[in-house]
Amino acid sequence: VFVVGTGTSYNSSLYADRLSLQLKLKHVRSVVSSEMEHFENLLDQETLVILLSQSGETADTIAAARIAQEKKAKLWALVNFPMSSLARMCGGVLPICCGPELAVAATKSYTAQLALITKLLYGSAGLAEEGNRMLLDARSALYDLMSNAARDHVMKLAKDLRGERDIFLLGRGLQNVTAREAALKLKEVAGMRAEAFYTGEMKHGPLALVGEGTRVMFFYSPQDQKHAENAASELAARGARIYSFGVNPLSTSIWHVRTDDIGKGLPMIQVVPVQVLSYEIAKMRNMDPDKPRNLAKSITVR
Ligand code: AGP
Repeated sequence: VFVVGTGTSYNSSLYADRLSLQLKLKHVRSVVSSEMEHFENLLDQETLVILLSQSGETADTIAAARIAQEKKAKLWALVNFPMSSLARMCGGVLPICCGPELAVAATKSYTAQLALITKLLYGSAGLAEEGNRMLLDARSALYDLMSNAARDHVMKLAKDLRGERDIFLLGRGLQNVTAREAALKLKEVAGMRAEAFYTGEMKHGPLALVGEGTRVMFFYSPQDQKHAENAASELAARGARIYSFGVNPLSTSIWHVRTDDIGKGLPMIQVVPVQVLSYEIAKMRNMDPDKPRNLAKSITVR
């Protein structure tokens, strides 16, 4: 099974890839739409290609679908618009039903893609009930994260970060997916140079850029707390300011955003405070959070 998308939809495909490993589903692999031709030799009538796209009109993803179609692979579209060009090319359509998304940045469609992927993969692993329970936990956690108190907390963080140009975002496994998606939001909405890495990769190069006052965000699950703790201490010792997103704070964090422990589905909720943060920073910088510079809602040319 190949799960294909671009931008935020690619990050959703990475969630499918990492979650399938956790659920012992061995044959799910994520691919960036524009790279599909490099996977051509692995496609045949036994392959299922799931194309992720909010709009269903993204040229790179439609081109990827054509490549898979020529190889006679089975095609499913996981889209917000069931009548879109992409959906009409595919034998199966999985609508995410999250309503029209008007701002350029994908936000609720990301959460909805992740929710549907969760349902799909837990169902495939014979764990449908467990998956459904986790989705309900995610729903109540999301209400908490959107509460006035939670938003005020993020607003204060936005004030702290409003003047910053660069920021690193770290996570491992499923939480690396959140680091990537959060970095994309900070880039396009808040105009920050936000770079995501695997937590363990930081010391293999990017560390050269860390010094007094470098901002670093950590995303982690309770299982990865110790791993994050060690990496954060190393960075804090070099003067980095640590922002933590997890169930419990890191001992070196100067700011913590608490998320409930909902298990493997953590990426469904952990990115939301950063979506809000990006929006608040954009407003403080007099940028239009709905219409980032140089971007369109769907990229219909290659
Ligand atoms: C998301 O915030 C971006 N604007 C962009 O990366 C987007 O996700 C990408 O262009 C894919 O769009 P699609 O989901 O409509 O195919």
